Amino acid sequence: MSRSAHPAGPRHADVLPEGHYAAPPADLNQLDPRVWSRTVGRNADGVVTVGGIDVKTLAEEFGTPAYFLDEADFRARCRAWREAFKGDASKAEGEDADVFYAGKAFLSRAVVRWLDEEGLNLDVCSAGELATALAAGMPAERIALHGNNKSTAEIERAVEEGVGRIVLDSFQEIVRVAHIAQRLGKRQRVQIRVTVGVEAHTHEFIATAHEDQKFGIPLAGGQAAEAVRRALKLDGLELIGIHSHIGSQIFDTSGFEVAAHRVVGLLKEIRDEHGVELPEIDLGGGLGIAYTSEDDPREPQEIAKALRDIVHRECDTAGLAVPRLSVEPGRAIVGPTAFTLYEVGTVKELPGLRTYVSVDGGMSDNIRTALYDAEYSVALVSRASTAEPMLSRVVGKHCESGDIVVRDAFLPADLAPGDLIAVPATGAYCRSMASNYNHALRPPVVAVRDGQAREIVRRETEEDLLRLDVG
Ligand code: LLP
Repeated sequence: MSRSAHPAGPRHADVLPEGHYAAPPADLNQLDPRVWSRTVGRNADGVVTVGGIDVKTLAEEFGTPAYFLDEADFRARCRAWREAFKGDASKAEGEDADVFYAGKAFLSRAVVRWLDEEGLNLDVCSAGELATALAAGMPAERIALHGNNKSTAEIERAVEEGVGRIVLDSFQEIVRVAHIAQRLGKRQRVQIRVTVGVEAHTHEFIATAHEDQKFGIPLAGGQAAEAVRRALKLDGLELIGIHSHIGSQIFDTSGFEVAAHRVVGLLKEIRDEHGVELPEIDLGGGLGIAYTSEDDPREPQEIAKALRDIVHRECDTAGLAVPRLSVEPGRAIVGPTAFTLYEVGTVKELPGLRTYVSVDGGMSDNIRTALYDAEYSVALVSRASTAEPMLSRVVGKHCESGDIVVRDAFLPADLAPGDLIAVPATGAYCRSMASNYNHALRPPVVAVRDGQAREIVRRETEEDLLRLDVG
């Protein structure tokens, strides 16, 4: 199985050991709290509950497949990130930091309101995400706009609305944003996204001089320094800082340390050349979560401390005032808060190989397994079982043999059509990357909290499909 080619770019790969099989767990009924959202448990009848409601009731009311999002857990994770990065109030100014939730992981108006209430900012990377954020009432100054090829319309809307920052991604964009801001009589706060020559995923990172990918402006060859030179000259722009994003599903902070070192190095160069100390740096997102029991992610507190320590150390050495820090976690906030609930349709045993369990969704609601060879867990949730573990592959109902949801997992051998199974940790990049392949209807996202469940994104209908098909 090749894990080297990653369609979203090398920095997005989940790296797995070759030929990897976990041993069957001692008890298939147990739900690992690292993988499942916080309010998930089994009731006395062995049925899994979330937010105080059992999955059979949820399936009856909302149907399957569906994503169930644990609102209390989402809010708790927002608070944990916010608290971790707020720093020590007794220390000097500059300790405070901003957490921008990366909306690409999953965005809806309800989510935007939760973020607003929990004091997080928001990173958007398209007109659609920006429109969702504004429609839900997120104050524009707490929004950052990203993207390697923002359209003129996207830039205009962002500048007009007064977004807190636009992250510039190319030399052309520096001029484009400056012109638009000037035409609108504004001075736009911007950061420059640089590529620092660090590629990180999971437990490994590679520090190189050059990076071969589409985002950002390379530090190498003085390109980033030249971008700063140009941005500082343009009246339409207020350059507030430097941005770096090194990858996805990262467990180890050492890649961030190299990135921080190189970003602070650029701040020093800017100070020496222009006599300007830029007040902010953003170290991006990419913090990993547990998709299976073998993953061991860091807590926000630990990540915040590591990032803050390295920024302080580097700034001390360079003789710079410590800039305001921001980070952009997406997956680490929403990923663990949701599971996808499916109904089993067929169970097909291939003797000597494995058992194929077909569910009523598939690659249209979770493309990550097919696209990135991502690993997931799965459990029987509509009842407990004492049957033997059975090596299973959970597949969808699409016309494609690569339509795999969970490649290798153990389910109880008495699994039967009509059982409900759930795949945890599907809060990030599942609904947001869902498709209508085979004219599948995209599942709803149901928020569950304190015994109440409500759709925050409704299920698509055949009417929705036909409305786009103008005949
Ligand atoms: N900031 C920037 C500039 C980013 O490009 C990203 C993700 C994030 C923050 C948030 O990263 P997170 O904390 O969620 O890892 N579809 C892929 C992930 C693509 C990530 C793209 N950029 C996946 O399903 O794994």
